[in-house]
Amino acid sequence: MEKSGNSAEPVVYRGLEGILAAETKVGFVDGQEGRLSYRGYDINTLAEQSNYEEVSYLLIYGHMPNQKEYTEYVERLRSESDLPEEVYDLIRKQAGKTHPMTSLRTAVSYLATFDVKESASDPESQEVMAVKLVAKMPTLVGAIHRIFSGKDILKPDRELSYAANFFYMSLGRRPDPMESKMMDTALIIHADHGMNASTFSALVTISTMADMYSAITSAISTLKGPLHGGANERALMMIQAIGSPGNAEKALSEMVERKEKIMGFGHRVYKVYDPRAKILKQYAQYITEKNNKNLFLTANKIEELMINRFGSKGIFPNVDFYSGMVYSALGFKTEIFTPIFAVGRISGWVARSLEYIQDNKLFRPKAKYVGEKGPLKYKPINERD
Ligand SMILES: CC(C)(COP(=O)(O)OP(=O)(O)OC[C@H]1O[C@@H](n2cnc3c(N)ncnc32)[C@H](O)[C@@H]1OP(=O)(O)O)[C@@H](O)C(=O)NCCC(=O)NCCS
Repeated sequence: MEKSGNSAEPVVYRGLEGILAAETKVGFVDGQEGRLSYRGYDINTLAEQSNYEEVSYLLIYGHMPNQKEYTEYVERLRSESDLPEEVYDLIRKQAGKTHPMTSLRTAVSYLATFDVKESASDPESQEVMAVKLVAKMPTLVGAIHRIFSGKDILKPDRELSYAANFFYMSLGRRPDPMESKMMDTALIIHADHGMNASTFSALVTISTMADMYSAITSAISTLKGPLHGGANERALMMIQAIGSPGNAEKALSEMVERKEKIMGFGHRVYKVYDPRAKILKQYAQYITEKNNKNLFLTANKIEELMINRFGSKGIFPNVDFYSGMVYSALGFKTEIFTPIFAVGRISGWVARSLEYIQDNKLFRPKAKYVGEKGPLKYKPINERD
C-alpha cells in the first residue's frame, strides 16, 4: 500500500509494493490473467510435459537442455546429492528441539563450511555452489523429515529422478508413477515466482557479493514466515479444524469477525485464481478421493464461501491452500510442508541470484525518517525520569 504525504514529501512504498527493482528473464507472473511462466513456458505445459530436472536447467541456464546437456546436468545433480556426515549429525542434534525450517536454515549455512570455495563470489564459483545446493536440497529435507519422524536416514538413490528420490528419502519407499508425477509437479510449480520475499532476500544478499550459501540461507529464513511459505501448514490445520463442509460458514464468519487472515487465500500479485492452486486442487481431489474425501469437500466449501465473500476484492485461493492437503495425503508431516516449498524453489532462488550478479548493483533502498530531528540534550542516566 502506498503512503504519501503532501506533494513536496517523498512517497513511501510500504513493502516496496509495485516497485520495479531489477530486470529478469527467469520467470513472469501475470497477476491479472492468472498466468505463470518460466522463460516463456507456461507452468501448465511444464507441469504436464516436463520434469523438475529440466525445469531447473531451464531456469538456471535460460534454455531447454538438449539431450547431452540434460544428461550431464542430471549426472551433476546425482553426483552432488550426498551430504557430509557432520550435516546429518547436526540435524540429529536439532530433532525435536526446532522447527524443520530452522534445521534446514542451519544445515544449509553449515554446508558452506565443507566447500573450500564457500566465500568465493566470482560467477563460475557461484554457479558451482548453485548446482550443489539444488542437488543437496532434497537430501537435506528428506533427512530432516526422517530424523524428525524418529526414522533412520536414507541416502540418495541415484536410480531415481529428483522428485522420486526426494519422496523416497523422505518417506522410505519408492513412489508409484502417480505419486512421482504429483511430487514432480509440486516441485515444478514452486520453482520460481517473481520477486517474492525469499527471492528478494536472496538477491539482497548476493548483491553484496556474498556467496550462494549465504544467499540461500537468507532466502530460507525469509520463506519461513506464515505470510510466505508457512501458510500451507496453517491452511491445512484450519481445514482440519473446521472438519466438515457444514461447519465452514460459521467458522469462517467468526474468523472474519476477528479480522483473521484466512491462510491459503489472497496474494500480493494474483488478483484472480492462482494457476498453481488450480493444478494442486485437481491433485488434492484425486488423492483424497478414497480415504479423506471429507477434507477435500471441506476445503472446497471454504473456497466457495471465500470467493463469494472476497472474490470481488481479488482474494482467491493461492498455492498454499491445496498443497498441504496433497503433501499430507502423500505421507509428509505438516511441519515439513515449508521445507518442501524450499526444495522446489531452490532452482528459482539460484537462477535469479546468478542472473542478478551478471549486472550486479548493491541493494540499498532508503527509509523516510519520521523520528525526532533533535539535536537532543544528552542527560546522564541518573538524571533521567
Ligand atoms: C499474501 C498476503 C500477505 C498478500 O497480502 P497484501 O497484498 O499485502 O494484501 P493485504 O494483506 O494488505 O490485504 C488487502 C486486503 O485484503 C484482505 N485480505 C487479504 N488476504 C486475506 C485473507 N487471506 N483473508 C482475509 N482477508 C484478506 C486484508 O484484510 C485487506 O483488507 P482491508 O483492505 O479491508 O484492510 C495476504 O493475502 C495474506 O496474508 N494471506 C494469507 C497468508 C497466505 O496465504 N500467504 C501465502 C501467500 S502465497
